[in-house]
Amino acid sequence: MTEVIRVGGGKGYDVAVGRGLLDDAGQFLGAVGGARKALVVSDSNVWPLYGKKAEKLFRETGMKTLSFVFEAGEKSKTLETFGRILDAAAAEKLTRSDVIVALGGGVTGDLAGFASAVYLRGVRCVQIPTTLLAAVDSSVGGKTGVDLPAGKNLAGAFHRPSLVLCDTSTLDTLPDAQYRSGCAEVIKYGMIGSEDFLRKLIARPVSEAPEEVISFCVRMKKDVVEKDEFDVGCRMLLNFGHTFGHAAELLSGYSISHGEGVAAGMATVTRAAVKFGICDGASLELLLSALEKYNLPRVIPFRVPEMRSAVLSDKKNIGGELKLIVPEKAGKCAIRGIDPASVGKWISAGRTSGWNRQK
Ligand code: NAD
Ligand code: GLY
Repeated sequence: MTEVIRVGGGKGYDVAVGRGLLDDAGQFLGAVGGARKALVVSDSNVWPLYGKKAEKLFRETGMKTLSFVFEAGEKSKTLETFGRILDAAAAEKLTRSDVIVALGGGVTGDLAGFASAVYLRGVRCVQIPTTLLAAVDSSVGGKTGVDLPAGKNLAGAFHRPSLVLCDTSTLDTLPDAQYRSGCAEVIKYGMIGSEDFLRKLIARPVSEAPEEVISFCVRMKKDVVEKDEFDVGCRMLLNFGHTFGHAAELLSGYSISHGEGVAAGMATVTRAAVKFGICDGASLELLLSALEKYNLPRVIPFRVPEMRSAVLSDKKNIGGELKLIVPEKAGKCAIRGIDPASVGKWISAGRTSGWNRQK
């Protein structure tokens, strides 16, 4: 059964979630009506698995399908790859009525989404997430972008997708480490909005009911982005664990995945919140149990000074103040303005020894 979640009301877009959806998704393509060409952007792992299926879908609605495939991995999320997608769109003479399709995980979604925001000052984009992380988070909400040498996601644009097609059968081929990485973002939703959901994640693996879990997370993200599309208020709550997580990803040269960084980042900031009397110990235990259940890291493997500099280069520092998402209890987080001088204190309070990341 396919669930359809409308994000942004009348001028918004549908997020369709269902197993086998790509085999029968023509009914949703009215959202990109009038397009004559579809440029499918994908990475070197995903394209061989699902490229043909995506091409068939768009071809059946009468579009000419073209493809752009880049080398898989965060290291490709650069201005250089972004520029090559724009060149491919121009070489294929895509027009304002055509569409760019992101077939893949969050890296593909961010790159293709950014290209669709910029090419001809904006063309329509269809997101087809193939990782759990992209399904529950990056494909929804319109944040797009690339990394710069100075840090993650430092260049980008807000550009709503016209449609999100989440076929959960694509998750069958996802390597275990990537599945677990997505589970970190799923756990994040529990910590920011629902202790009950967090407990359910511990009681029943995500893989037993992915459609239900994805739909729950998308509905939660919908509520947040409808209130704060441009990330100046409550949307910042979705960055729980990301401030320290992004810094760890950057320092590792991206050998630590986004989900692993977020997992260790959530544990770090929650430990510090408990030490500072902001959050209760039982909530920390619940978070650590969830992370342990999905074999996710709970410790950041870098020293305080290097973490401090990496954190302070992050774009979430606004007007000299760092916005840190701090849990008050499981299911409730708050946005706190932190003096950059106190970042080191938060990191050291949140550290424990030992890095238990599973390879
Ligand atoms: P990813 O896109 O690199 O995918 C992870 C790996 O899984 C890649 O090697 C990919 O080739 C492979 N893969 C993807 N789908 C597969 C499938 N179905 N079967 C087999 N292999 C598959 O990374 P990700 O974890 O999906 O996303 C992380 C990125 O998302 C980061 O760059 C992060 O900054 C970004 N992000 C963006 C937002 C947003 O709102 N825009 C939100 C969260 C994360
Ligand atoms: N993943 C954070 C956001 O979409 O705002």
